[in-house]
Amino acid sequence: MKNNRFKIYPSILTADLAQLENQISTAQDNGIDGFHIDIMDGQFVPPITFGPIIVSHIRKITQLPIDIHMMVINPDRFFEDLIIAGADSITIHYESTKNFDETLDKLKDLNVECSIAINPETKLTDVQNYLNEINQILIMSVNPGYGGQKFIPSSIKKIKSTKSIINNSNLKTKIQVDGGINSNTIDSVLQAGADIVVAGSAIYNDDNDIKTSIKTLKDSISK
Ligand code: DX5
Ligand code: ZN
Repeated sequence: MKNNRFKIYPSILTADLAQLENQISTAQDNGIDGFHIDIMDGQFVPPITFGPIIVSHIRKITQLPIDIHMMVINPDRFFEDLIIAGADSITIHYESTKNFDETLDKLKDLNVECSIAINPETKLTDVQNYLNEINQILIMSVNPGYGGQKFIPSSIKKIKSTKSIINNSNLKTKIQVDGGINSNTIDSVLQAGADIVVAGSAIYNDDNDIKTSIKTLKDSISK
């Protein structure tokens, strides 16, 4: 069932990549709203994951929004390739480059939705002046790098503070929350003001099929 209140984006980080097409189309058929692709470079975070080539294959499988989360040092190196591959939105970490303003300006010049991510230890005050020039802020509710981590409870306060700045300034900036979203945490994250929640291991896991996992997640949201 679709709704206009919030969106759920699966992260394919824990999906069965040997069956990528099936994993994407099954999630899509069960009412999710877009796909969150975690690009890790082995430097900003220890693991290495995907790049533009995989994104271009995902673009062939789905028409839903492709939301790129770059956990990459100096991310501007890959902006154009990601957009050519089919990215609809690109998130860069505030902590990922020394020349943040320059990097953000490069992203804003391109035909893509712009988003800034902040790690749990990064203060909202460090980025709040950018809220009026971006489409989305990504509040990390775990330290980036791995799926299946535990939600950091102090993220709720950060989401609420972000929401009040956005509302008080009449901005349209969306709040995305990523990390540890499951049937125990999703409702409080949405109540706090999240517009888009990312769910990795809550959707792609070894315990339940994708359809059941999405239903469990949605059923735990208060009406
Ligand atoms: C972590 C990634 C997340 C990850 C979330 O660095 O940014 O998108 O896939 O996984 P879960 O939902 O399992 O915490
Ligand atoms: Zn992510």
